Amino acid sequence: MSDTYLNLVNSGLTKKVAKQFGLPRPARLRRTDPKSIDAPLVTGPVVVLGTGADADTLATTLLDWELDVRRTMRGGRVGALMLVLTELTAPEDAAEVVDQAGPLMKALGPSGRVVVLTRAATDQDSPARAAALAGVEGLWRTVAKEVRYGATANAVVLRDGVGVDAPAALGAVRFLLSARSAFVSGQGLEVGSDAGTLPADWTKPLAGKVAVVTGSARGIGAQIARVLHREGAQVVGVDVPAAGESLASVMNEVGGTAIQADITDEATPARLIERVRERYGRLDVLVHNAGITRDKLLANMTPDRWQSVVAVNLRAQVQLNEALLATPDLSPDGLRIISLASTSGIAGNRGQSNYAFTKAGVIGMTRSLAPLLAEHSGTANAVAPGFIETEMTARIPALQRQVARRLNSLQQGGQPVDVAEAVSFLASPQSAGINGQTLRVCGQHLMGA
Ligand code: NAI
Repeated sequence: MSDTYLNLVNSGLTKKVAKQFGLPRPARLRRTDPKSIDAPLVTGPVVVLGTGADADTLATTLLDWELDVRRTMRGGRVGALMLVLTELTAPEDAAEVVDQAGPLMKALGPSGRVVVLTRAATDQDSPARAAALAGVEGLWRTVAKEVRYGATANAVVLRDGVGVDAPAALGAVRFLLSARSAFVSGQGLEVGSDAGTLPADWTKPLAGKVAVVTGSARGIGAQIARVLHREGAQVVGVDVPAAGESLASVMNEVGGTAIQADITDEATPARLIERVRERYGRLDVLVHNAGITRDKLLANMTPDRWQSVVAVNLRAQVQLNEALLATPDLSPDGLRIISLASTSGIAGNRGQSNYAFTKAGVIGMTRSLAPLLAEHSGTANAVAPGFIETEMTARIPALQRQVARRLNSLQQGGQPVDVAEAVSFLASPQSAGINGQTLRVCGQHLMGA
């Protein structure tokens, strides 16, 4: 779906009028192409601010990625600003980096990036260090609201003992610097362990992997299939028989396998596992994307509306996860499960009690699955989209849709590819140290922000 307002405020006379009247002017975001990667990682110099060993390690790694890395900058456009605040011992320690960052904020180019590196406080930390680390969260969340022209600000939060050069820390930095995170802002991505490996080829991190994507006949699921395929995975798409034709067309496009099945059917998990085993002999990634809405205020909720949403959005996932947990031999390198939650499940949303119940449920299910999968080197994470331009949101009445699009720091809806990129990042080998997390792809939606 195209956003007419965004197009108007970015072209010709209407751009001038919007500027004159001080109307919101959402920027066109630098995005990826779901079918090919040829764009540069960042669009200008990356300035790494910080005086400790972590800042040096990070700067050296970024040089290895052939980026234009600076430790200070005067004049010119900045592509990305990295604030390394892992070594704070007291609140006053943040001042030096903040003083250097301030003037550079104005030099941040369109779709620029601010990435903060920090640590999660532990019970052993002094109150002064805990205060400083908690303060950093307030800092990046605010910066995300202050940056302009499609820029974003996010953080990589390292748990105790995890090095700044852990694969998932570097993988997260790379994801957050790139156009793949176009619609991710105001978020903290927690890295819990040193697990994982950096891919030999950053353009094909999923080479040799097999991925199942439910609900991949259209919308977000179809883009997830395309992006996983672009990253080197073999894709198995699942959707209801009524969507068989479009599923076949998406799977033809990605050279994948189409399975027509209703995920709520009790026979589906066994059938799916059998087909995947027969055709590929392994399963590395499962994306629970299929989902439905049947909106009504709770006062007008019918048993059918409640139960159908719970059956598709939650019960079917639990059922398939249980079947896969019972067959660990199918995933020799560990299974990556990525489930689609929603900001409605984080903040609640009027008229969506059934949907919010299931999406909050997905977040809880993910947390509980994480240690179970970790026993076999797997992970479970969720992606919570905000307002994404799809057929699902096209059904929202026009005026309500216009308002919903603007309720985030980027003042626009996300695209299916934005969600697909987050899913593919969480499926990749470098993200093995991220487990049990929910990554929001919502442009820093005001709901539960
Ligand atoms: P969509 O309605 O465009 O596509 C959903 C797909 O799932 C369809 O192809 C449908 O046939 C399939 N599906 C539904 N029930 C199924 C079943 N029982 N068995 C197999 N397949 C089934 O939805 P969209 O917008 O692409 O959303 C994808 C996921 O993202 C959903 O889980 C949704 O809740 C979530 N999401 C979407 C947001 C948005 O703004 N579009 C926001 C937040 C979350």
